[in-house]
Amino acid sequence: MCGRSVEINEVLIDEASLQKRVGEMGLTITRDYQGKSPLFVCVLRGAAIFHADLIRKVDVNLLVDFISVCSYGDETASSGAVQLIKDLEMGIEDRNVLLVEDIVDTGHTLSYLVHTLKGRNPASIRTCALSRKDRAQLDVPIDYLGFEIPDVWVVGYGLDYADRHRTLPFVAELKPEVYS
Ligand code: IMP
Ligand code: MG
Repeated sequence: MCGRSVEINEVLIDEASLQKRVGEMGLTITRDYQGKSPLFVCVLRGAAIFHADLIRKVDVNLLVDFISVCSYGDETASSGAVQLIKDLEMGIEDRNVLLVEDIVDTGHTLSYLVHTLKGRNPASIRTCALSRKDRAQLDVPIDYLGFEIPDVWVVGYGLDYADRHRTLPFVAELKPEVYS
């Protein structure tokens, strides 16, 4: 092995499974938002690839915007304090907002985003996440969930470790010795 693959353990979600599941989620979301023009909010930077694939599987007239938050720095443990790095450009009052996130770990990020955006009086706010870790989380509802994964650090398909490995076409476990 060479290059980017030396830091990778097992592939947890392969490319075909990602595409299949994103397609299924797109169908469900299409059905749920018939006749509406939802705003799909991509949570940068991890959700960029998932968001880009998902919006092309949703057959309604949707809008997109981007928001960026941070709680980890280059660590693999959440600091718990979420910071807004880049806000939305659009107003969301009376809009149907769907937050599109890469992964829910402690739930702090999603909970912060839901709380912050609710204060702007959207018509509705729902959440969509590619994956959720199998561990104790804040009680934050995920309306559309792609995969349950084990409580390990994962990379690929947009997910990073210290900004590395985002471009892998699958989701894989990072070798624990890389971050421990
Ligand atoms: P939470 O606030 O603890 O739920 O963490 C959510 C955020 O942390 C996500 O938006 C990700 O950006 C990042 N994150 C959490 N776990 C992982 C992981 O295993 N790989 C890459 N990023 C992660
Ligand atoms: Mg993220």
